Amino acid sequence: MNTQLTYVFQESECFIRQYALESGQSDEWVRERISEIHREIARGGVFNLSEKELAFGARIAWRNANRCIGRLFWKSLHVFDCREVKTPHDLFEKLCEHLKFATNGGVIRSAITIFPPSNPSFHSDPSATRFEAPLTILNHQLFRYAGYVQADGSILGDPMNVELTQQCMSLGWEPSHYEGRDGRFDLLPLVVQDINGSQHWFTWPREVFLEVPITHDAYPQLDALNLRWYAIPVLSDMVLEIGGLQFPTAPFNGWYMGTEIGARNLADPHRYNLLPEIASCLGLDTSSNRNLWKDQALVILNQAVLQSYERAGVKMVDHHTASEQHLHFERTEANQQREVHGDWSWLVPPMSGASSSLFHREYTNHEKTPAFRNKVHTPHLQPATGCPMSKTHS
Ligand code: ARG
Repeated sequence: MNTQLTYVFQESECFIRQYALESGQSDEWVRERISEIHREIARGGVFNLSEKELAFGARIAWRNANRCIGRLFWKSLHVFDCREVKTPHDLFEKLCEHLKFATNGGVIRSAITIFPPSNPSFHSDPSATRFEAPLTILNHQLFRYAGYVQADGSILGDPMNVELTQQCMSLGWEPSHYEGRDGRFDLLPLVVQDINGSQHWFTWPREVFLEVPITHDAYPQLDALNLRWYAIPVLSDMVLEIGGLQFPTAPFNGWYMGTEIGARNLADPHRYNLLPEIASCLGLDTSSNRNLWKDQALVILNQAVLQSYERAGVKMVDHHTASEQHLHFERTEANQQREVHGDWSWLVPPMSGASSSLFHREYTNHEKTPAFRNKVHTPHLQPATGCPMSKTHS
């Protein structure tokens, strides 16, 4: 048996034990379920999770997400089981349904849509010419704005998406300067790769895409910048791992924390880099660092983001409240005798760090499974954090 299959053998057992522990299944059920799964793996590499196991696994992956400040709400994740989907077109339709459900007129609901897993027996088979998964999404998030390299080398739009934009254009997508805008916020299409490596693109229908114009009540001069951002972040390039099975196509969404947009997407020097423009709109003196013009522009931009989402009726959390929610999560986990791991540098908000209670805490950054991983990451061949449940069951 190859090492990948050995890993799936071990991880599936750990997962079933954890599922049984948290959902109250008997020891006998555990024994039977594990031997059933092991037989399936031995036969074909992939095994079938029940719908309940799948949904549990996805929620635990969220609970285990060391970088996520919003995981207090892990139990409320809505799971769409789309493991039967075979074509890029059907995948696109399912995602439109996901988006309507999740957007919910602004009262955002967390959801994940899970497409077919990849077959672990291919991973270490050098002769395998097939792609890892039946269907993969090439976008980092379902919604992203285009980035165009201009004649003078500067970038119009979101520099993070230059490569994806070029790829979309090479597939035949033409920037239409979305709704007559200046090209700074052009919505990119979805790009899906099928099992043969062919790529297909789809433009989002207007009714699944909610966007928020960003303005500030006290500073109408910012209106002229025509800033905006989309309502929901839907991450589409992470791998969901449950019981050793990899689901490389499992887009999921939560709602935004204001600073993700106001202190990163619109403010980072390598993203929209808006602080100098905002400072000049506000008439701030930018000739020296020492008057903290950047900090002032940052606060005003972040107020604008929070106010604008509120005005539009789109759910968003501020970073102080999110920090408190994470502390609450830590307490509820402690009550269940579960250790919370975390990635400090991601959990601490990107502005006013020490004003967040999380700044003053320490976290162990060990990965537990089920997990969401970045795609480049190859799975561990040892269960990620051992298998605590097996101590009590074996
Ligand atoms: N930081 C990413 C962005 O700004 C989104 C990551 C997920 N965020 C979330 N609130 N669920 O688009």
